[in-house]
Amino acid sequence: INLVNFTCTFLVIMQLNNSNMSLTRLPVSWHLSHSAVLPWHQVTPNGSLVLLRVNHSAQGTYSCYDNSGRLLRSIKLRLGHPPGRLTISCQVPNHTHVRCSWVETVKTFLPAEYNASFSNGKEWSPCIVDVTQKHCDVVHPAFWQPIHTLRITETNALGSKNTTASVKLHELLKPDPPESVLVKELGGYPKKLLISWRFPSSWPQHDAFPLIFHIRYRPQGSMFWSEIYSLDNSIVIWDALAGHLHQVQVRTRDEINAESQWSEWSPLLLGRPWEDYTTPEPDVEPEDIFTLPTKSKPEASTPKSRGSKHGDEGNLGLVILLVLFSVVILTTIFSLIFVVWMRQRRRDHATKQELTSMVKMKSIPI
Ligand SMILES: *[C@@H]1O[C@H](CO)[C@@H](O)[C@H](O)[C@H]1NC(C)=O
Ligand SMILES: *[C@@H]1O[C@H](CO)[C@@H](O)[C@H](O)[C@H]1NC(C)=O
Repeated sequence: INLVNFTCTFLVIMQLNNSNMSLTRLPVSWHLSHSAVLPWHQVTPNGSLVLLRVNHSAQGTYSCYDNSGRLLRSIKLRLGHPPGRLTISCQVPNHTHVRCSWVETVKTFLPAEYNASFSNGKEWSPCIVDVTQKHCDVVHPAFWQPIHTLRITETNALGSKNTTASVKLHELLKPDPPESVLVKELGGYPKKLLISWRFPSSWPQHDAFPLIFHIRYRPQGSMFWSEIYSLDNSIVIWDALAGHLHQVQVRTRDEINAESQWSEWSPLLLGRPWEDYTTPEPDVEPEDIFTLPTKSKPEASTPKSRGSKHGDEGNLGLVILLVLFSVVILTTIFSLIFVVWMRQRRRDHATKQELTSMVKMKSIPI
């Protein structure tokens, strides 16, 4: 805003009420509430206040006084913009509830009112507005309709603006995450974990709206999740890593509607499989028996390290055997080369002798 012009018209009326009807204008003075100085301004000869290049610090109540200190006029200055478009997003946590929230794309600096309605294509019904949270709620929408329209009207002192958004309930359906997720050990089973959870409390618990659950788990520190899907409220994991803390999360989705969305993951939960604390002696025979038959999967660290110790001894024997073997092979090769070389030398010697004798023969004059 570059210019604000406040007139102090009351002064003129006072002049008219004088008996001699003089039109001489008395000087007035302007003051701004909560401030000793006025922003950059001019007071025109007829008493108007002109503010130049106004910013938000110029907001407040301006008062005009006559030369005897009497209040003539008071005006409130508030700066802002008319409403702009809204950015609308909707959440559908179950089949009976739609909540749409919005944010302003234009900061108006002015208090606003919102009116929202929801249409199934034929008729409009209200979307109940919460002004402070900037959202509105529709209960029992016509879920069988593929597309709905939401219209929100923002109104402030400077104007009003409609924003419409099309809403596809089927694609927006996204349950809240499963609740009360628990991880429990199963006594006597060092590789099993029991994971249980409850339906999100915002999801109606009828058979009419089944949910599918997606469970993921991994030993703490691992990068890779193992995953299971389930229609039940609990599951037993068979391949936990014995002796390790595991991270577990569960999420859910409407089982029937494949276009709907997965919920967020439940918070990360930690659980450890059962461990045999009753045998602290180093004698680990029973554990050996238990873990040996399942070699294919990543195993508990204790049997593995023991296994590698056995392997070290075996490896040493193998190395010695290899060295002996290569010594034998090398000796054989060297003696063979030597024999061949000796033979060659002898043959060379013979041919040289033959050659010299031939030369001699040639040179003999016949
Ligand atoms: C809000 O919109 C509805 C439907 O369009 C209308 O009937 C109602 O009068 C409006 N209310 C306000 C406060 O504008
Ligand atoms: C649907 O979700 C809303 C919002 O979380 C909740 O208030 C409502 O009770 C839920 N409806 C049912 C039937 O659970």
